[in-house]
Amino acid sequence: GATGAVARDGRVALGGAIQSDYFDSDPRYGKAFLDHYDLVMPMNELKFSMIHPERDRWNFEPADRLVDFATTNGKLTRGHTHVWWGAMPDWVEEISSRREAESVLIEHIERVTDRYRGRLTGWDVVNEVIAYDPREDGPLRDTYWLRMLGPLHIPLAYQTVARTDPSARLVINDFDLEWKGELYTERRKVMLQLVRQLQDGGIDIRGVGIQGHLYVGREIDKEGLEAFHRELDRLGVALLVTELDVIDLESSTDPAIMDEAAYSIVKDFLDGIFAWKRPEMVVVWGITDRYTWIPDVMPRDDGSPHRPLPLTRDYAEKDWMVMLKRR
Ligand code: G3I
Repeated sequence: GATGAVARDGRVALGGAIQSDYFDSDPRYGKAFLDHYDLVMPMNELKFSMIHPERDRWNFEPADRLVDFATTNGKLTRGHTHVWWGAMPDWVEEISSRREAESVLIEHIERVTDRYRGRLTGWDVVNEVIAYDPREDGPLRDTYWLRMLGPLHIPLAYQTVARTDPSARLVINDFDLEWKGELYTERRKVMLQLVRQLQDGGIDIRGVGIQGHLYVGREIDKEGLEAFHRELDRLGVALLVTELDVIDLESSTDPAIMDEAAYSIVKDFLDGIFAWKRPEMVVVWGITDRYTWIPDVMPRDDGSPHRPLPLTRDYAEKDWMVMLKRR
């Protein structure tokens, strides 16, 4: 398909974001991945600050390990991400010359892309470049790369990946594209504009990644999602789900009620996207409730555990895993 995913029996390919750290500490981890998922999403290992923490230090081993794990086991892998405000090493932000910043960006992208050339089905080349509220302070987010290089750092990053690994499908990734309300309609509009601008600039953009960090209590705009998907399709661009998980700060502390709330919001989200057509892949952001970023950033008031993912802490399938596999 357009983004390189091979669906099983005409079904959506199911990806899982994994972290190399847990392979040694938890013997069930790798097996659970292989039992349930088709595609490896390295959660952090390919990010700028992780793989290139200092100017003259590269840390390829954790990423190599995940890519090798995927290859050995006949799974696909995707790349995430070269340009992201959330993974900037200090040494880069200390650079104050525009020219130097540009060459650092290009060299970084070339080196990382080249190392995994031909092995990653696609790259989330840039991540989260839309301003939180594009009506107020947008359309683009204020980042180091925007301040130094202007909006052209975006096509520059895509050109660099395309030149270095022509087989990698180019994807642009962002969050908060699924909700009801003017703000989110505007965010979808800005994403469509970015896609058209990239296309006008001769960039073969293949996919938009909708992260899908779903907050229980918010309302999914199913019609808005369907229209967004239709519009992307018309532009020849696929919509993929790249970081699905459920953030529940409010429904209950009863696991059964939390899992029902999760099922229902995931269903609304997928219904909206699938209403236009089946996406090529759905990637969940973690594989088991045991390991998730959410409590670090948003602990529940009473300290009770989050249940964001389709496998429980003990690797049992939830109903929404069954739903994902049937899609
Ligand atoms: O690896 C170090 C470890 O050596 C150190 O002891 C420990 C102490 O803090 O930190 C470890 O690094 C952490 C890393 O995750 C690996 O666990 C970083 O501090 C922590 O900031 C990092 O968080 C990740 C975050 O992105 C920032 O890169 C989360 O796991 C990851 O889930 C999250 O993912 C993002 C997507 O890339 C983009 N969309 C939003 C999503 C959620 O924030």
